[in-house]
Parts: sequence; C-alpha cells; structure tokens
Amino acid sequence: MPITPQELIRNLGDLPPLPQVAAQVLRIVGDPDSSTDELQRVVSTDQALTAQILKIANSAMFGMMREVKTLTQAIMTLGYSTIKSVVIASSAKNLYNRGSSGLQERLMWEHALVTALAGRAYSRQLRFARSEEVFLAGLMHDIGKSVMGIKFPDRYGAMIRTVYNNEQLDTLELELETFGFDHTMVGEALMKSWNLAQSIEQTVRWHHEPMDTPPENRSITAMVALGNQLALELNIGVGKPESLAHPTQQALEILNLTPELLEGHREAILQALELDKSLITGL
Ligand SMILES: [Fe+2]
Ligand SMILES: [Fe+2]
Repeated sequence: MPITPQELIRNLGDLPPLPQVAAQVLRIVGDPDSSTDELQRVVSTDQALTAQILKIANSAMFGMMREVKTLTQAIMTLGYSTIKSVVIASSAKNLYNRGSSGLQERLMWEHALVTALAGRAYSRQLRFARSEEVFLAGLMHDIGKSVMGIKFPDRYGAMIRTVYNNEQLDTLELELETFGFDHTMVGEALMKSWNLAQSIEQTVRWHHEPMDTPPENRSITAMVALGNQLALELNIGVGKPESLAHPTQQALEILNLTPELLEGHREAILQALELDKSLITGL
C-alpha cells in the first residue's frame, strides 16, 4: 500500500525550495499590474539566468534580424510567457543537476528536456492549444527522481544504477518496493510546495498512469507520456521504451490515436526536435 501524502512529507523532510529569483519572477509574471522594469530588475540579479534569456532571445528559434543585447529587449521580444518558461526550466535544470549520487545527472536533464520538447511538438502537431503547459510539465515529469537522489543519495543512487545496468527492471516498482513511494508522488509534493500550476502537478503525478489524471488536464499528461516514450526510443534517458508501453497505450486512447496515426506524425516530430536543438544547447 502506498503511503499517504502526510507520511510522504514526513519521510522526505524539507523539500528543495524554488530558487528565490524564480519565485519572484513567477509572481511578477502572474501579476497583471506588474511592469517590464520590475521583471528586468529581478532577473538581472541573477547573471546565469540573464545570460540564458539573452541566449534564447538570440537563438535560431526567433530568427531576429538584429542582435538582442539587453534584458529589456529580450523581455519585449520573448514575452512574459517565454520568460516564465525559461525561469522554470533553469530551476528544473539546477535541480536535475544537483544530485551527487551518480544518478546520471546530465542524462536526466537531457531526458527531461527532450521529453518536454517532444511533448510540445506532439501538441503542436495535434493542434492542442496548451503546448506551453505540456513543455513545462515535460520538464518536470521526473523531477521526483532528483529529489529522491538528493534525499537518499546512497539508497536511491544504488537503485538507479541497478536499473541502468538491468533494463528489464521497472524503476517505478523498485521505488515503491524500496521506499513505499515513487518519483511521481515525490514530484507532485515538490510541485505543490513550489506552487506551480495544477496541470504541471497532475502531469508529474500521473505520467505513468495518464488515464488517472483529472479530465481537464488529461490531454497534457498524454502528450508528456508520448514525449517520454519518444525520448527513451531515442535512447535519451534510463530504461527501455517498452517499459512505457502501458502509459503510451493510455495516451493514445486519451488522444484518440492509433499506433499507425502516431507513427504518421513521427517524422514531423523528429524534425521539430532537430529545429529545437538550439534551445537544447541554449539551456
Ligand atoms: Fe517517470
Ligand atoms: Fe521520464
């Protein structure tokens, strides 16, 4: 029997906080009365974040005629919603990279990013309006693994290495057996404590059981599940793509797709991923 959310929190102790700059940016972006000046002031206190935003503003994605040199220009060019995505992405990246348990940190981050990009490509391809939420939820989907790696470096690190060397094993099952909870529950608790959107929280919780997502966010989880599957097919991540047969099956059902229809979209998705490569190096 999985443990209750209260027991989970008791087991985990304090969760990693959302970086302060990120928290401030999210507040400003969510406030209709806020100004570009205010956003500029907060972001500029973080040099790495400023550099990332400028890099993205100048990336091939936007094909600007003139170079974007200042943060104010970048905010104008990218808009609030992209700035928000960049800030959340950089918080996720820091966390994915933080574990020191030999958790294949770099691979975890790349897996999250490719899942997010592929999920977003699917949602654009299928003309689903909430592709930015899919992107953010994709970035976060396995964040619980990093938290478990940070909290239980020896035990969790050893477990992931076992899965890495024996791809027949199922991560989720092993987590439940070893800890009494899995990375989707830990991820959900983290998203709650960071106060991120419900769609992200629910996707993180249900990306291995998309059908259990509350109806209003079920399609988002389905898109992320497809992205997750594609990332493993491209060999970016830990585990075999077959281990995701069940969530993929549910995702197809949710989106009213057959495996043949999905296959028909594959080329377009791979092309979109290729185009987004500038973003991969930018982040
Ligand atoms: Fe997962
Ligand atoms: Fe994953």
